[in-house]
Amino acid sequence: MLDNEQLQAAASTMAGLRPIPVAVTTTDGTRSNGLISLSGGPASIVPEAPRAMVGITKYNFTHDLIASGGVFVIHVLGNDDDLIDSSIEIIKALGGRSGRDGDKLAGLRVGTGATGAPILLDALSYVECRVTGSYDNDENTTYFGDVVAAARLHRGGKLDIGTAWSRLGSAWTAQYELDHEPQIAHSRSMRGLPSKLPTEEVQV
Ligand SMILES: Cc1cc2nc3c(=O)[nH]c(=O)nc-3n(C[C@H](O)[C@H](O)[C@H](O)COP(=O)(O)O)c2cc1C
Repeated sequence: MLDNEQLQAAASTMAGLRPIPVAVTTTDGTRSNGLISLSGGPASIVPEAPRAMVGITKYNFTHDLIASGGVFVIHVLGNDDDLIDSSIEIIKALGGRSGRDGDKLAGLRVGTGATGAPILLDALSYVECRVTGSYDNDENTTYFGDVVAAARLHRGGKLDIGTAWSRLGSAWTAQYELDHEPQIAHSRSMRGLPSKLPTEEVQV
């Protein structure tokens, strides 16, 4: 077991290593959905046959839809003046609640990709992927996929997570942290860990 000092060192080493949020959408043919992730990225060094990867927490609805549908789309969001409000709207719509509780794509401008997966038309650009494999990491699954379609939808730069947090505001962020707690508890249980840290236990 790591002591507190080591836990702090681990957290500070890994904080900020993935600065670009992505909007991940998917469909299993009957339901479409999406979420926000900080774990998207490339999965190949071959320029003419790109692959992408993304890590999805098992608790999330999107996890099950990618598993059954075998497709996912990774969108990056824009930070230019004409796009940033839409980028924040996308994060709020997809990252703040579960698609199990209602259609999160309903309020967004959405098209249909080559695989049938939803394309967010107000994203900066996207890669659309067919799953080639996955890695089960107990609490989450990393999905890998061949890029079967891609497009640049708008001009400008990529939104980073620091800029996004400052625009999302403290009320939204506080609610997000609260909603995140059951995911952390579920992740602990998937790894056979106690559901709360000893320091989180209520003292009576
Ligand atoms: C900045 C940010 C980063 C996130 N990173 C991930 C991630 O890497 N993997 C993941 O599964 N969820 C991640 N989430 C959480 C999901 O976006 C969120 O729980 C979502 O409501 C899940 O929706 P779903 O149940 O409809 O799939 C992130 C959320 C935010 C705001």
